Amino acid sequence: MPEDSPNRRSLSRRKFLRGAGTAIAVTGAGALISTKVNGDATEPAEQGGTAQEGLVDVTLKVNGKTHQLKLQPRVTLLDALRERLQITGPKKVCDRGNCGACTVLRDGKPVYACLTLAVDAQGSEITTVEGFGTPEKMSEVQQAFVEKDALMCGFCTPGFVTAVTAALKKNPNADNEELRRACRGNICRCGTFNRVFEAAVEAAKKMKGA
Ligand code: FES
Ligand code: FES
Repeated sequence: MPEDSPNRRSLSRRKFLRGAGTAIAVTGAGALISTKVNGDATEPAEQGGTAQEGLVDVTLKVNGKTHQLKLQPRVTLLDALRERLQITGPKKVCDRGNCGACTVLRDGKPVYACLTLAVDAQGSEITTVEGFGTPEKMSEVQQAFVEKDALMCGFCTPGFVTAVTAALKKNPNADNEELRRACRGNICRCGTFNRVFEAAVEAAKKMKGA
């Protein structure tokens, strides 16, 4: 097939999108843009103090690893993850508890990382989308999102993968209705809802098979 034939091009594009989908479902890499944020986890001296002023010791356990940080008490878990630990699966979209893109598991329960203070997350097991699997060994939910092509821009995807994972851990027999309820706190601005729930149901089947 010639390099520039339409079939060749569409195959290449499909292959590329499949690869991108895998990266997004596993690491949230779809939103590679690292947003510089308000109230971020760094403490600029230009805010009137020294870089060390008001910092407290914070210990976070994320994806099985323990991290020691020094943070302002007002820093959210989302900023600590993204800005300090470079764990960028959870996305910063609304930063006010409206969209679910920042969803992580706190002791197995989905929470909005943008509404959780890092200091308050101490003592909990935090799991982000990166903690579910790797591109080589994806979880059933991650696999299903890739197979069902359940994403467009990918910003919402880590949140949905996390919410669906939590729902299926709680009830492996969750049906379409229950999975939809579990994702009530997640919004897809691209409108990929049907595929998201196809993926969720497929993941339930895979998990039962496993
Ligand atoms: S970024 Fe946290 S709910 Fe939207
Ligand atoms: S795929 Fe774009 S917001 Fe959901």
